[in-house]
Order: sequence, then C-alpha cells, then structure tokens
Amino acid sequence: MKHYDHFTTDVLVVGAGLAGERAAIEAASRGLNVIILSLVPPRRSHSSAAQGGMQAALGNSAMGKGDNPDVHFADTVKGSDWGCDQDVARLFAENAPIAVRQMAYWGVPWNRVKAEKRIYDGKEIQEDPEKEGLITARNFGGTAKWRTCYTSDGTGHSLLYTMDSVVLKLGITVHDRTEVLSLIHDDKRCFGVVSRCLRTGQLRVYTARSTVIATGGYGRLYGASTNAVINEGSGMFVALETGKVPLGNMEAVQFHPTGIVPTWILITEGARGDGGYLLDKNHHRFMPDYEPKKKELASRDVVSRRIMQHIRKGYGVDSPHGPHVWLDIRHLGEKHINTNLREIANICRNFRGIDPVHDLIPVRPTQHYSMGGIRTDINGIAYGLEGLFALGEAACWDLHGFNRLGGNSLAETVVAGMVVGDKIASYTREADLQYSSSLIDDHVGFQEDRIQALIEARNGDENVYELRREMEETLSENVGIFRSEGPLKKAVSKLHELLERSYHVGLTSDGKGANPELASALRITGMIKLAYCIAAGALAREESRGSHYREDFPARDDDNWLKRTLAYWPEGAKEPVLEYEPVKITELPPGDRGYGEATRESAESNSSS
Ligand code: FUM
Repeated sequence: MKHYDHFTTDVLVVGAGLAGERAAIEAASRGLNVIILSLVPPRRSHSSAAQGGMQAALGNSAMGKGDNPDVHFADTVKGSDWGCDQDVARLFAENAPIAVRQMAYWGVPWNRVKAEKRIYDGKEIQEDPEKEGLITARNFGGTAKWRTCYTSDGTGHSLLYTMDSVVLKLGITVHDRTEVLSLIHDDKRCFGVVSRCLRTGQLRVYTARSTVIATGGYGRLYGASTNAVINEGSGMFVALETGKVPLGNMEAVQFHPTGIVPTWILITEGARGDGGYLLDKNHHRFMPDYEPKKKELASRDVVSRRIMQHIRKGYGVDSPHGPHVWLDIRHLGEKHINTNLREIANICRNFRGIDPVHDLIPVRPTQHYSMGGIRTDINGIAYGLEGLFALGEAACWDLHGFNRLGGNSLAETVVAGMVVGDKIASYTREADLQYSSSLIDDHVGFQEDRIQALIEARNGDENVYELRREMEETLSENVGIFRSEGPLKKAVSKLHELLERSYHVGLTSDGKGANPELASALRITGMIKLAYCIAAGALAREESRGSHYREDFPARDDDNWLKRTLAYWPEGAKEPVLEYEPVKITELPPGDRGYGEATRESAESNSSS
C-alpha cells in the first residue's frame, strides 16, 4: 500500500492560464467541484505575456466596418493555409464576439472607440461618432478588417487578471507549484494524474471524472522563444506517453516576426498593426518589395520568411547575436508609444537599454506558438482516452492549421474555455469514476522508482542540461523557418540519439524537494519525444503549408497533403508512429491566400539568386 495525498474532484484542470481558468469557471458555474493545478501562481501563467490583442468581429472601428463572423472565418481558414478544421473555425468566429463582451462584463478595460480623426499609413481615418465608447480594434496581420480588440499592449495581462478574479470569486481550488508527471489510465479511460509538489517533492494523486489539459505550448524546446520558461510542453508529453493519445500537426511551429534581440521577448504585432515598419541594414523598408499589398501585415509565416530571406540576401544588420532587422515605430510618436505600446516600450528600455521613441528596435523571427498539440474533436475531447479533454495551445482543436493568425490565440483560449467548458460540464455530470486502487499504486510506484533512480544515478550519468542544450540546438538549426530533407534527417537522427541518452540521466544533486535539476530530469525524455514528433512530422510532410516551409517542396500540395498528421508514441517505441486523417473542408475550398503564395515562386528564384 503506497502512501500519498489523494484528492478527488469532479473536474481536474491542469494549467491555470486563460484556457484552463475559463473552462474551470464554466464547470464550477454549473455546480461541479473543480481543482486547478498549475506550475506557477495563476497570474504568472504564460497567457499574461500576450500583448497585442484578441480577434472578434465586432465591426465597431471605422476600419472594421462591415466585419462579421463570415469574414473572420475566411481570414482564419486562409491564414491556416487550409489546414484548419472548418467546423471549429466557424464555431470560433461565431462565439468570439460573445466571449470578448463577456470579458468586458467581467472587468477587462478594453480600449474604446474615440470619435476622432487620425492619420494611418498616410490616410485619414474618421471614427463614427455613433460608435464612440464601444470596444475598438487594431490592425493585425493577415486580416481583411481591423478586428483585434486590445487593452494597449498588455491584453493577456488584463484578461488573465480579470479571469483569475472570477476564479477567486467562485472559490475554485488552485494547487500551484504542482507539476503533473503522468496521466492515470487503463488504456481506455483517464482517471486523473500523478503529480509532484514543486516545493516539497511530495507525490500526490488527483482523481477526477474529467481531466482537462490546458498547459499551453512547447516553445522552450527551441532555445530562442517568446514563451515563458514554463512552456516545456508537459501536458502534451504526458498525453503522448499514454501511448493512446495522438498529437496533431506537431510540425506546424509558428515563428513570430519580431522577437527582440537577444532576449527574444515578444515585440507585439500591434507595433506593426499601429503603423510600424521593418527596415534593413540600409534603413530600407523592404516588406513592400515582397508583399506590396499587405506589407508588414501579411500573415505571420509570410513575414517571418520574408525577413529571413532578406537577411540571407545579406541585408541583415550584423550583431554579436547574429543578423537581425530593425523595427521602426518612432514615427508613431511619444504619446502613442507610451500609451498603446507602453509594454514593449518598457521591454525595450529594461531589457535592451533603448527607447523606441527615439531608437530602432533590433528584431528577428523567434519561435512563438505551437499549432500542434493534443488532438481533440470539436468538443475538446482528446482522441484515444475517455474522460480526457484538452484546450488552448496544448490542444490541436484544430483552429489554426499550419499558421495561426495573430490575435486568434487569446481569442481561442476564451472561446474554447467557454464552449469546451460547457461540454466538459455536460460530460462530467453523467460520468462515473471507478478504478482499482492497484492502478493508482502502480502509477505512483512507477514515478517513485523513476525519481529514486535519478537521484541515485542508477541508470547512468548523462547531464540533463547538456541534453537539453543539444535538443534546443538541433531544433533551432534544423527544424526552423526554412526546412529541407538533409537537415531534417540530421535532426531526426540526433533526436534518436538524445532520446536514448535521456534514459541514462543521473543527477549531481540529491534533493527530492525544490530541486530544479530533478524537475528538468523528469521532463527531458518527454520534451525530446515532442521534439522528435516535430522533426519526424516535418520530414514526412513533403509540401509547404503555412509555417511549414520545405525548400525542397516549395508548393502547397492539396492532392496529397490536405491531411493532418497524428503522432503516436506506443509504449516502448523508439520513435513516433505517424498516421494521417483528412482535413475537414466544409465551407471554403482550398484557394489562394491572397498574400505569400502569389509570390512564392518569385521568392524561390530570389532566394536562389
Ligand atoms: O504580437 C502579438 O501581440 C502576439 C499576439 C498573438 O500571438 O496572438
């Protein structure tokens, strides 16, 4: 008989960012008991780092006139390069206006329409006096209308503090500084998790009628990422390691055009949305040369490729941290920068010692978002195990296909939290919870043995930080913005080696409690498995779609690749097993995205010239 603390609840939510908290609120509002687990205090979740805003078709601003969910749906599908699930995109676009207004009701101080004239990109904009005071929107990449609702450039922060206040008001239990080590399951149903307290090292069991994974993305698999240090993909790999739950489209990795050099903190797309330019080493504004129509506000994948292509041609600014380009917002003026872009102004001042009111900002495309994740259906139900749900960045719902539009992530968290939260509540009401105590003991025993073996360095003396460095380098160098067979094969083979070595990690420390080396060692194998799924998926997909750009297969290939990758990791396997399922096209047949594709061939000849 094992000894551990055991908590039982109706709904267990793993992750206290916006998606997890919104789903928890939905379930708790229906009278269900909910426990949320989080690596950090909820207000430090990565959602708080989101800056520029969330998309919802309100149509209040002059430049958003005529917007509606149909236009938002079409932008999302085109943005995804036809890789998304169109039923999900429709559900999302219809519900985003409801979610944004609900957040206003709960207290988010959205920026509002001011009935004034202003100049944008050389043109005069006159806001409608009848709309004064309504929630306004700013311009963002890849959208036909201005649709991104915002609170200056601290939108994630405002949303998360507001959401967490509702969690507190409802009295939902949160156990922070807790990490999940594995899902408890019997190959058919998920019953909860085995977790570890990051303060004391104590193992705890949580059993629940529904288990919900909302742990965000895996950005930290790449060394340079805009993601918080907690974004190591833990929710994804504990699902993968069940052997039953597939991850969808792991090869779809988003690079944000503007991470600040060299800390890679996000500099919001709102800076370009509000009128900022990208300049090369000659201070030439180069984006109109490549994308005459959308310029700096083409889709994110397109802008990131154009920047790297321009740098490859020798137009980057040399720096000790590698070549970069400049972001220029000086012409927006001190008042605008210190109000609507005040967060990035402070990031520039505090992390780089420059003032964007007077100085250019050094930027380079940086890993930003995971379109892939735990594959679910439209109701957020994970494939493969009953009683398991996933949502937000941890999930492949699949709203974003191969490229997410800026502003569609915050929107996804609150919309999915609302609609999937409702499904979770309905499921949980009807579900029972019956498991054998030996099942729990086996899962706990496995984790106890693992920890003891690491501390005693019983299996070897591989250094976890060295493995991690090599994994980051492998992905960054070989599975980045431009991909091709040679480097991808190299990545797969290196990750194969790193995975094997990860089973031989030994610790140099012996603390079982707040021990970062132990925590890293417990995660490294799962992280390498995720990296392997990304590289293997990218090698297999012989086409270019959205963020997945194969230089050896530069065209989108709808005849052969209009399908979603499903990566499984069967028990004892040494590599992922890839399967595929069709992408659902319900309303908008594949076509031209309107930016990028039209000039993709010219990009080819440019990059080879
Ligand atoms: O640039 C940004 O503010 C990021 C937004 C997003 O990723 O949705």
